[in-house]
Amino acid sequence: MAVAYNKRTHRCGELRRPHVGQHVTLAGWVNTARDHGGMAFIDLRDHTGITQLRFTPDHAAAHELARSLHNEDVIAIEGMVVSRGEWTNPKLTTGEIEVEVTNIDVLSRCDPLPFQVNDDFEAGEDLQLRYRFLHLRRPEMQEIFRLRDRIARAIREFFHEHGFVEIETPFLTKSTPEGARDYLVPSRVRAGTFYALPQSPQLFKQLFMISGFDRYAQIVRCFRDEDLRLDRQPEFTQLDMEMAFVQREDVMDIVEACVQRIFKDALNIDIPLPLPRMTEHEATERFGIDRPDTRFGLELLDVTDLMHEVDFNVFREAIDKGGVVKCIVASGGDKLTRKFTDALAEELKGMGGAGLPLTKVAQGAGGVELQTGIAKFLQPIAAKLCQKIGAVTGDTVFFMPGTNADACKYLHHVRTRLGTILDLIPKNKWDLLWVVDFPLLTWDEEEKRWASTHHPFTAPLDEDLHMLDTDPGKVRDKAYDLVLNGTEMAGGSIRIHRKDVQTQVFRILGISDEEAKEKFEFLLDALRFGAPPHGGIAFGLDRWVMKLAQANSLRDVIAFPKTQRAMCPLTNAPSPVSKKQLDELYLALKPLPNK
Ligand code: AMO
Repeated sequence: MAVAYNKRTHRCGELRRPHVGQHVTLAGWVNTARDHGGMAFIDLRDHTGITQLRFTPDHAAAHELARSLHNEDVIAIEGMVVSRGEWTNPKLTTGEIEVEVTNIDVLSRCDPLPFQVNDDFEAGEDLQLRYRFLHLRRPEMQEIFRLRDRIARAIREFFHEHGFVEIETPFLTKSTPEGARDYLVPSRVRAGTFYALPQSPQLFKQLFMISGFDRYAQIVRCFRDEDLRLDRQPEFTQLDMEMAFVQREDVMDIVEACVQRIFKDALNIDIPLPLPRMTEHEATERFGIDRPDTRFGLELLDVTDLMHEVDFNVFREAIDKGGVVKCIVASGGDKLTRKFTDALAEELKGMGGAGLPLTKVAQGAGGVELQTGIAKFLQPIAAKLCQKIGAVTGDTVFFMPGTNADACKYLHHVRTRLGTILDLIPKNKWDLLWVVDFPLLTWDEEEKRWASTHHPFTAPLDEDLHMLDTDPGKVRDKAYDLVLNGTEMAGGSIRIHRKDVQTQVFRILGISDEEAKEKFEFLLDALRFGAPPHGGIAFGLDRWVMKLAQANSLRDVIAFPKTQRAMCPLTNAPSPVSKKQLDELYLALKPLPNK
């Protein structure tokens, strides 16, 4: 018999002991169905939780229908809340009661499922994404997207309260260089030309400042065609903001207050301010990377000096080429098995490295004795080495010779693996820090030219400006990255607001005056007509949700994400288009290369 499902009296997670005796109307999905012959039980689920329904032969029609139900059928019921007495289920928030059903309406039947919603069995990712609507039905996914909503709301409210104006920026636009490839959209009206989807609204927000909006903030989609990783999606969401008449500290202060608000509103966690700061140089020297995970030690140590005395070719070659030898000291010997260290060395080779020289510290009759690995080369300086790096009996020392950049890169990988296997990374710890004073430019060895460390609109530090022409590699910038537990959560900078400096930076980047005019004429124009000093930042919203939900991948926190191969198994995008569509765009496809 029809049940007024639009007049639900409660949600499935709401009923408690005080409701006993009330007539209720509920609707939802069959989470589980159990038929005990005389009695049938259904666990009814919606986004708030589960209520147990009891069907008895006293209400024969409802009882009969209940016995025919399967998981994920959609039903509405009317009934009376009764106490479960001694059958209380402490695992359910509604576990003290159940509903004795008098009337049931089957609103929709469910076909055999590709995977169950009511267990946490991990179906293959393609299958989960193909049936994403089912996967999103799972309570843990519901929780993640409600957390996402709380975070987005906290951010939006915060910026509105602080005088920021939300203005939308175009999606069909021109390329903004953020270091990735563009997604292109062909124009039909001007056949032969293309829009680029924005990698970020960077230039538009700078124009807003020049237009006098003073403070702008927008939650906005960005598009980047780059190699995907667990923390990278081709389309992702930023909180993008910009402020006029500010220095670095002003932007960082307001961002810190926003971060505090996000943690409070989303997780009820108090984050103490101000957040610590570290220069890029210190971060790289100590942790091997400019986004350090400071929740645990295992810092990198430089032993180049000592290695001058050692007769080991691999180290000698690196030092002769002007390189370094760095190391990490780890305790917990029994977990660092041969199998583990061999596998780690293989991983490094996969990244382009040469292996992982190591040794173990032991106590011999005559003092420190090094064992295994490259022990025999290092034994002559064993005591000195151990003293310098603080290694004691039982420790393993991992070395990395090479250029400073390579040694840092590989030892960062080693450090991360060691942190995990040695269980050194505390759960529920939120280590936030600012990384500042990046080099403005990074040398691109492949292309033999300077590239922006952030983007070409980042301002150099005033005190380094004089080196821009003479020693560009030494110039530091006014950028700031916000790092949480080793993940870059936000990045921004004070911008160049003078046309002459912007033109000079373009030239150093190898962007000719003609190219600059073709690509950025609108920016250079705007800088001519009264540009206030300005700066801003963008948060990776998806990364905030991933971190705060303690999820492993952005795919868990984006409703309809792309796979590693940048495709959507749900809609099957990207997919071929018709010849007619191509013709309208004056496009012809080249034959694909043989796989
Ligand atoms: P940036 O390129 O550092 O800066 O991006 C800002 C933040 O966005 C997040 N992010 C991503 N998240 C998911 N998938 C991706 N592919 C991805 N790429 C970046 C990161 C990052 O910190 N216009 C500048 C900001 C500015 O200067 O104000 C910009 O976009 O969390």
